[in-house]
Amino acid sequence: MPKQFYVTTPIYYVNDVPHIGHAYTTIAADVIARYRRLLGDEVFFLTGTDEHGQKIERTAEASGEKPIELADKVVLRFKNLWGKLGITNDDFIRTTEQRHIKAVEEIFRKIEKKGDIYLGEYEGWYDIRNEAFITETQLEEYLSLPEATRPPIEKVKEESYFFRLSNYQEPLLAYYHKHPEFIKPDNRRNEVIRFVEGGLRDLSVSRTTFSWGIPVPGNPKHVIYVWFDALTNYLTAVGFPDDEEEFNAIWPADIHLVGKDILRFHAVYWPAFLMSAGLPLPIQVFAHGWWTVEGEKMSKSLGNVVDPYKVVDEFGEDIFRYFLLREMPFGQDGDFSRTALIGRINGELANGLGNLVSRILGMIKRYKDGELPTPGKLEIIDEDVRKKALYTVERVEEAMNEIAFNKALSSIWDFIGLVNKYVDDTAPWTLAKAGDKDRLDTVLWVLVESLRIVSIMIYPFMPDSANKMWGMLGFKESLESQYFSNAKNWGEIQLSGRIEKVKSLFPRYDSN
Ligand code: MSP
Repeated sequence: MPKQFYVTTPIYYVNDVPHIGHAYTTIAADVIARYRRLLGDEVFFLTGTDEHGQKIERTAEASGEKPIELADKVVLRFKNLWGKLGITNDDFIRTTEQRHIKAVEEIFRKIEKKGDIYLGEYEGWYDIRNEAFITETQLEEYLSLPEATRPPIEKVKEESYFFRLSNYQEPLLAYYHKHPEFIKPDNRRNEVIRFVEGGLRDLSVSRTTFSWGIPVPGNPKHVIYVWFDALTNYLTAVGFPDDEEEFNAIWPADIHLVGKDILRFHAVYWPAFLMSAGLPLPIQVFAHGWWTVEGEKMSKSLGNVVDPYKVVDEFGEDIFRYFLLREMPFGQDGDFSRTALIGRINGELANGLGNLVSRILGMIKRYKDGELPTPGKLEIIDEDVRKKALYTVERVEEAMNEIAFNKALSSIWDFIGLVNKYVDDTAPWTLAKAGDKDRLDTVLWVLVESLRIVSIMIYPFMPDSANKMWGMLGFKESLESQYFSNAKNWGEIQLSGRIEKVKSLFPRYDSN
């Protein structure tokens, strides 16, 4: 059985409701999953929630609930949102599930057996918001932050199990050098390498001063450190430790998508745990950037947190998906603003793609009574569209391989611009008036063929609009039955059907 393509999102804390940052990674993962399925791959796409730890315990306490009650409530906000955003995850993992507890116990035992866990005492600082132990050097970085944005930290002194992370400095560095694709983008990779070169201290992997977590096997006074627990989710969901067949068919992950703030956990601790447990390492960890909102850092205290539910209710899932992936290169930071959003909707979606689709379909209704045209001989101007279509598909493939969503979309929109121009240049209305039926049919056919290819290319990004477009083209075969390679088969595929109803794809918005 060929290995499945395995893509993950971080699992989200349930102390807070979903915001644009959560939606961003999950949409990105969905685009990759849909694209891979179009390529013909078997895909396993995982997301879920991180439900243990001191932060969740405290949040629950503050609202007079049990942690599990809080989790049960908030998890629905995530699950419902993924439904609204067209997310096609194959599993949803919650770290409070029995299957996960079992997996965490098992990997803990394996690492212990390897001799990489010992009992000691942790004395130092802890950042509860990020559930992170703070080293002396990091403490200085923390203290240099303005107080308003600095995560609160607390002094901790308690018995703790440690993981011998210091033993993995050399193996990790060797691995990074041997696998330059392991951490992306390159500037983030360099940061991680510098961090590891600076020396690794053993990592505290258990706590005793609260109880909301998975007990350490054999010493239930301790609960396992929430990041040790959380990272293991990627194994749990693919059958670890019991279902070896499933595990081998899916693990290792092809790509872990994470925000830049949690790269260290995924690119340093996680591979070290896996090495210790004797398990294969993920192929790639890709760290994306952060959104600001209207030029400001997003924060609860500023009250500017973008609620994805509201954006979807106002604009629909596809517009939100498109904007997030078009506006900011994956890996860099960017800004979410209403002006930018409406600018892209009006310019690229309504006037660009929407207008092209309604123009073309309208002409076929008018001049052909909805019947799909068949072509005569192609002229140079038609051949140019064909060549540009193929060129575009290849650019999109390249961009998707390097997880450059914005590049893929901008190539597709260059093509849309070219096809719009082709309509102006060939002026089908003049051909219709002159009764030049053969030429008219050829031009309309070139246009239908172009839209067919655009539908396939935009499907991973805007599944709903792509399906609508495809449906309006009247093809009997479904878009979901197509392969990405069909976007390269210009003129080779005979799709049957006829155009019935023409509806507008995207509304225009008032820019105020
Ligand atoms: N529970 C951990 C992840 C464990 S994975 C084994 C966690 N959860 S989280 O709920 O805080 O999710 C954070 C994710 O949202 C991170 O990937 C983070 O980078 C992302 N974002 C939080 N704010 C963001 C923005 N303003 N912009 C983009 N992404 C942001 O961390």
